[in-house]
Amino acid sequence: MAEAKSQDAIALLKQDHRTVEELFAKFEKARGDGRKQELAEQICLELSVHAKIEEEIFYPACEGKVDEDLLKESYVEHDGAKLLIAEIMAGGPKADEYYDAKVTVLQEEIEHHVEEEEKRMEGLFAQARKADLDMDALGEQLAARKMELTEQFKTAGVPRPELSTMDEVSV
Ligand SMILES: [Fe+2]
Ligand SMILES: [Fe+2]
Repeated sequence: MAEAKSQDAIALLKQDHRTVEELFAKFEKARGDGRKQELAEQICLELSVHAKIEEEIFYPACEGKVDEDLLKESYVEHDGAKLLIAEIMAGGPKADEYYDAKVTVLQEEIEHHVEEEEKRMEGLFAQARKADLDMDALGEQLAARKMELTEQFKTAGVPRPELSTMDEVSV
């Protein structure tokens, strides 16, 4: 998919959300273990890249300019999703009887998270839009990093997600 150079940060991130929603919809309709796994892995790749570019570039730019609690919750929601992503990537529909359930719960978590980012007026993006951020410059940075990470994850595989807000505990 070609990235339009003029895309601002919010347009780029929203487009990522739409891409993942489409993949989840395809997963819901998919039949056959192979197809399901292929779609689930694509979802994990897209989400891993998206979470990383938000955490590396967009969220830090929002620091001090948006509601602090909302921003913190965003990081924690990412970490919650990463746990399921790691589970899904480590398993498969044959070996894991909870595979489909994990993808469905990931979908629900992401739907909630996207709502928090895109909500009119008080969502993270709406707040960021009101703040004095250079969305075009941020968009360029996000696009460049996204391309780099996508390439890297496609060749070397999606790495085990790193948690930003939780201590490494074994439960
Ligand atoms: Fe997002
Ligand atoms: Fe996010």
